Amino acid sequence: MAASRIRIGLIGLGFMGRTHAQAYAKIDGAQIVAIADLDARRASGDLSDAWGNVGDAGELKLDMDQVRGTTDFHELIGWDDVDVVDICVPTPVHVELAVAALAAGKHVVVEKPMAINSSQAGQIVAAAESAPGFLMPAMCIRFWPQWAWLKQAVAQRRYGAVHSATFRRVAQMPPGWFQDGEKSGGAVMDLHIHDTDFVYYLFGQPQAVFSRGYSKTTSRVDHLITQYIYDDVPLVAAEGSWAMADGFGFQMAYTVNFENATANYDMGRAERPLTVSQNGSEEVVDCGDSDGWTEELRYMVDCLIHNRRPAKITPQDALASIRIAEAEARSVASGALEKL
Ligand SMILES: NC(=O)c1ccc[n+]([C@@H]2O[C@H](COP(=O)([O-])OP(=O)(O)OC[C@H]3O[C@@H](n4cnc5c(N)ncnc54)[C@H](O)[C@@H]3O)[C@@H](O)[C@H]2O)c1
Repeated sequence: MAASRIRIGLIGLGFMGRTHAQAYAKIDGAQIVAIADLDARRASGDLSDAWGNVGDAGELKLDMDQVRGTTDFHELIGWDDVDVVDICVPTPVHVELAVAALAAGKHVVVEKPMAINSSQAGQIVAAAESAPGFLMPAMCIRFWPQWAWLKQAVAQRRYGAVHSATFRRVAQMPPGWFQDGEKSGGAVMDLHIHDTDFVYYLFGQPQAVFSRGYSKTTSRVDHLITQYIYDDVPLVAAEGSWAMADGFGFQMAYTVNFENATANYDMGRAERPLTVSQNGSEEVVDCGDSDGWTEELRYMVDCLIHNRRPAKITPQDALASIRIAEAEARSVASGALEKL
């Protein structure tokens, strides 16, 4: 029988917790019933001043009339009225929370990267495979409207075969725990993983990767360019970085050259971020004004309302993307092609 309301317990109320809270407010059938954060102010519903790449950081106070707050995530995971545990804590904590929430019979949403390395991601996959609840890794780019459009265009061969696909995601260094490579994994694992995963989503597992890059702030790769080697697509590459100078902000873009058209997305072109050029003219594609965070959570809530396992992104997909990102980091270190 279909459920009419999905009750969310949100753990970690920094930038992404705040972003998820704002997204759930737009989703019919979703209701936050519990929140947890080590920080008592945030656990009491005051989410003001969280920082992020995209979005705002002004004052935000949750209406706590029907929400329980705690500084102990174990307590939240044990509450009977929570259907879904949504994990938005720093990456090294994902594995502990995801495994505990699955063991408690909850459905789970876990922010990207699903874990700090493939070994911990494998533990989450194993826990999800034997749990009654569903686990959905929050790979928001698969749901970002202009990227979901691209996935469809490629899958339907709307403009013929893909000759080349290039992606770019570059930013200034975020503050706080991201600057510790042991915790964030560097830009290759934290930021660039979005494009690694999207390349995997579009074209499957590459035969090999070849990456060049360097460290700037963390002990890990903070800026890289990777070529993904495929038999059937001649040129696939992505640049990922958080080594830009302070003041640069954040940019994401792609250019996909099909047999019969070129699709070009650049978030910096406010009036016309996505265009398709073909036969001597350029069409502006309107994908609406939603974002991937809202759309991924809307998809997850819809799956749970209809008791369907989320299929657009699986725990196994998130593990595969982490393994590819690890191969990219190895290629930077070795200077050689890394086979997969
Ligand atoms: N999808 C995206 O676009 C995107 C963007 C930014 C970050 N992220 C990911 O989201 C996750 C969180 O990042 P963020 O930017 O929100 O970090 P953040 O530092 O802004 O917030 C983390 C919050 O978790 C709390 N916390 C830490 N350990 C905890 C614990 N054990 N129990 C309860 N609360 C705890 C902190 O007090 C803080 O409020 C990371 O995995 C990050 O990589 C995803």
